[in-house]
Amino acid sequence: MKTISYENPFPHLIVNDFYDKNELTLIWEELNFFTKPDKLLKAKNYGGIEDRTNARAVVLDEVFLTHRQMSNILTVNRKLFKIGILKEFGKIHDCCSIAEDCNWDITKLRYYHNGEYYEPHTDRSMQFLGFSYFYKEPKKFSGGELVFPKYNYQLTCENNSIIIMPGWVEHSVNEVKIENSDYYDGWGRYAITSFFGTNDKKINKQYK
Ligand SMILES: [Fe+2]
Repeated sequence: MKTISYENPFPHLIVNDFYDKNELTLIWEELNFFTKPDKLLKAKNYGGIEDRTNARAVVLDEVFLTHRQMSNILTVNRKLFKIGILKEFGKIHDCCSIAEDCNWDITKLRYYHNGEYYEPHTDRSMQFLGFSYFYKEPKKFSGGELVFPKYNYQLTCENNSIIIMPGWVEHSVNEVKIENSDYYDGWGRYAITSFFGTNDKKINKQYK
């Protein structure tokens, strides 16, 4: 695991090799499970921004509402809150300092296959974002970079990396291109996204 903090062009932290081998095995079991017909949903069916993306996704907290422990991903991605990286993130800038006090989160699983993208938007109701990325190797797709149009900045989203940033940062995803690949073969770009923050009213699910 390698962690790098960036102050510019906005505060963010990138961790490479975030999950270990056993955790990755559990994650891929679930990624493969959801890459089947009638599992990943179009934007209008999972509460996404309908006119901004054509990539399918699923909100894991909704699917596993009553039995979270049945989700490999919801189980292993507690790591984000447990190993001190939010404390590191909080040191970058004061605007990130409450990240380690977060008490709720939502997890989305999203898949980008050929021709799929996400136009520039801000997840403005979210305090913090943690985007993790997965793809089969050798990598068969091009595109899929995480782009920050206002800052002329982009990230390549390495396999098994996570980027943590404030929710006010506008972002988009470049169109993914894959030749001669069936959607359900899963050779595209997976993103497991955590939206998290602090909520004293505790109207959202506790993350611990
Ligand atoms: Fe977003």
